[in-house]
Amino acid sequence: MLKKLIRKNEQTISINLTERIKRAQQEQLPSHIAIIMDGNGRWAKKRTLPRVAGHHEGMKIVKRITRFANEIGIKTLTLYAFSTENWKRPKLEVEFLMRLPEEFLGTYLPELIEQNVQVKMMGNIESLPEHTKRAVKKAMEQTAHNDGLILNFALNYGSRDEIVQAVRNIVNDVQDGNISAEVISEKLLDNYLMTKDLSEPDLLIRTSGEVRLSNFMLWQLAYTEFWFTDTLWPDFDEACLLDAIESYQTRNRRYGGLKGEEVN
Ligand code: FPP
Repeated sequence: MLKKLIRKNEQTISINLTERIKRAQQEQLPSHIAIIMDGNGRWAKKRTLPRVAGHHEGMKIVKRITRFANEIGIKTLTLYAFSTENWKRPKLEVEFLMRLPEEFLGTYLPELIEQNVQVKMMGNIESLPEHTKRAVKKAMEQTAHNDGLILNFALNYGSRDEIVQAVRNIVNDVQDGNISAEVISEKLLDNYLMTKDLSEPDLLIRTSGEVRLSNFMLWQLAYTEFWFTDTLWPDFDEACLLDAIESYQTRNRRYGGLKGEEVN
C-alpha cells in the first residue's frame, strides 16, 4: 500500500515536472544561468557529517543540474565552484575542493561528451594544482567542438581580480600602441574579461539563504535577474531550477528603459 502510494506520488511529481517544463519552454528561457552554489557546509553540519561530505554531495547536484539544464534548452550554465577567496579555508577542505573537478570529470566526461556539452573554465587556471589543471584542460580540449550547453566553471575566480587583469591588459595594449585610449568603451572592456565569448547571465541563482554576490561576475550581472532560495545546494533539484526559471519569466526586463506599452 505504502509502496503504491509512493509510486503514485512519484508519478504525480514527474507529471508536474513535465508539464512545468513544457510550459516554461513555451516562453523565453534564460539563455545563460549563473549559480552561486552555497550551503554545502550547512547541509553536512545538519547531518553531523564533515563539511567535505557536503561538497561531495554538491558535486552530484552539479551533474544533475547540468543534465537538466541541457535537456530543457539552457545555452550556458556558469557555476561558482571556487573563488579567489576560498583559498583562506582550511588546507584539507581546499585540497578536497581541488580534487572535485578531477573526480567529476573523471566520472562524467564521457557522458558530457555524449550530451554535446562544452566545458569551459573562467578563473586563474595557472595557479591551480597540477592535477586539477590537467583534468580541466583535458575536459575543455575534448569538448571544444561540442555545441550544446556550455558548462562554465568559475574556478579560482574573483570578479575584482578579473576586472583588474582586464584593466592591466588594456593599459598594456594602449602602451604598446595596439589600441588608442579613445576606443576604451564598455564593449571593449567586455572583450578583456574572461567571459568575452559568453553572453551575460540572464538569471543569477544563489542557494542557502545568503543574499550577496561574493565577488561573482560583478560587471556581467549589471542587468541580470536575481533569484535567491533558502534551499541548500545539495538539496537543489530540477524543481528548484524550474522555480527560478518560472520566476524569471514573470520579470519585466527593461534595461533602464521603458517597454513599448509604457512609453506614452
Ligand atoms: C559554498 O558552500 C560552496 C563552495 C565553496 C564549493 C562549491 C563546490 C561544489 C558545489 C562542487 C563543485 C563541483 C565541481 C565539479 C567543481 P559553503 O561550503 O560555503 O557552505 P556553507 O556556507 O554552508 O558553509
